[in-house]
Amino acid sequence: MNVLVTGGCGFIGSNLVKYLRRQRPQWKLVNVDKLTYAGNLENLTDLEGDKQHVFVKGDVGNREHMEHVMRQHGIEAVMHLAAESHVDRSILGPEEFTVTNVLGTQVLLDASRATGVKRFLMVSTDEVYGSLGPTGAFTEESPLQPSSPYSASKTAADLMALAYAHTFGLDVVVTRCSNNYGPYQFPEKLIPLMVVNCLHDKPLPVYGDGAQIRDWLHVEDHCSALLLALERGKKGQTYNIGGGAERKNLEIVKGILKRTGKPETLIKYVQDRPGHDRRYAIDPTKTKRELGWAPAHTFEQGLDETVKWYVDNRTWWERVTSGAYRQYFDTQYKQRLSNAA
Ligand code: NAD
Ligand code: TYD
Repeated sequence: MNVLVTGGCGFIGSNLVKYLRRQRPQWKLVNVDKLTYAGNLENLTDLEGDKQHVFVKGDVGNREHMEHVMRQHGIEAVMHLAAESHVDRSILGPEEFTVTNVLGTQVLLDASRATGVKRFLMVSTDEVYGSLGPTGAFTEESPLQPSSPYSASKTAADLMALAYAHTFGLDVVVTRCSNNYGPYQFPEKLIPLMVVNCLHDKPLPVYGDGAQIRDWLHVEDHCSALLLALERGKKGQTYNIGGGAERKNLEIVKGILKRTGKPETLIKYVQDRPGHDRRYAIDPTKTKRELGWAPAHTFEQGLDETVKWYVDNRTWWERVTSGAYRQYFDTQYKQRLSNAA
């Protein structure tokens, strides 16, 4: 099968491309990525010289280019991951989120229709459901109540994909997963940022009281669910994917300090994120029952391996955090720390 993966040079996309090469070696993978600050070819050095993986630099919002790529490579299925993905950035500048996540998705859906794509997998997020109180978990039937510009843009894209199934009969499947962690995650998200700061002996900015809860999913467990959703998911259906590992942010930060041998005095409480969602928790019963999926990682073991990966791969994160990112990071970082709670 010829599969188009969008955003295949980002965190989840690069893990997915490598996972698919191992699991479905006969497939041809065409990886379209714009190479924003979050997309790095360094994530795919393992695939150098691999003829079953074709990288194409491109923007999912470029209709002619997407149609051309799909026709040229005889694309049968699309796995759509390309997005602007960081909530904090969406608060600083929402426009790019609308352009890539909403318009880009719609253009890609059109190109898929025009070229006869047989299956379109839309990688969405649990953030479409908004925030939970202290109990309960999101099911596929939970109301959609996104609260940040990022989650609002993903909700629009998620619903647009379902509308294309309903209105035009495009064979769409939507997945909504919880917070991913693992190797090759850009060090702006909680876990890699805290590890990198520990390794630099820099303060660790904890937003608000640090008691917000996320449900952590190892990126490889996400990849296994995406492959099952592509192959076994039913047209027009959504599937929740969660690791069953609810943790408070502060527990994670302390776990990283322990694993890197650094003192808790590095923790710095800073002003909370505006509109910060308090708790996410996923009920993945439908995905387990209908797709036969089960996560293979426990959180404690996954975190051990992830921290070790960042310790062992300093060259990678030093390289991807140089240049434009550095400028953004320094400004943001100074601002966060000057907003101490
Ligand atoms: P990421 O930011 O690491 O990677 C995004 C990739 O998309 C980058 O390689 C970037 O260059 C590319 N990209 C951005 N704009 C593009 C455009 N216009 N055209 C082509 N490529 C473009 O993101 P990630 O964490 O790997 O997330 C992948 C997907 O999974 C996203 O759709 C995200 O919303 C979703 N998701 C992520 C998480 C998470 O915890 N990371 C959780 C739920 C859902
Ligand atoms: P993040 O990794 O940005 O993912 P998301 O906002 O999509 O859940 O953040 C995870 C949690 O960690 C979230 O509650 C915000 C918090 N956080 C901090 O406390 N400090 C930080 O520096 C960052 C980046 C996040």
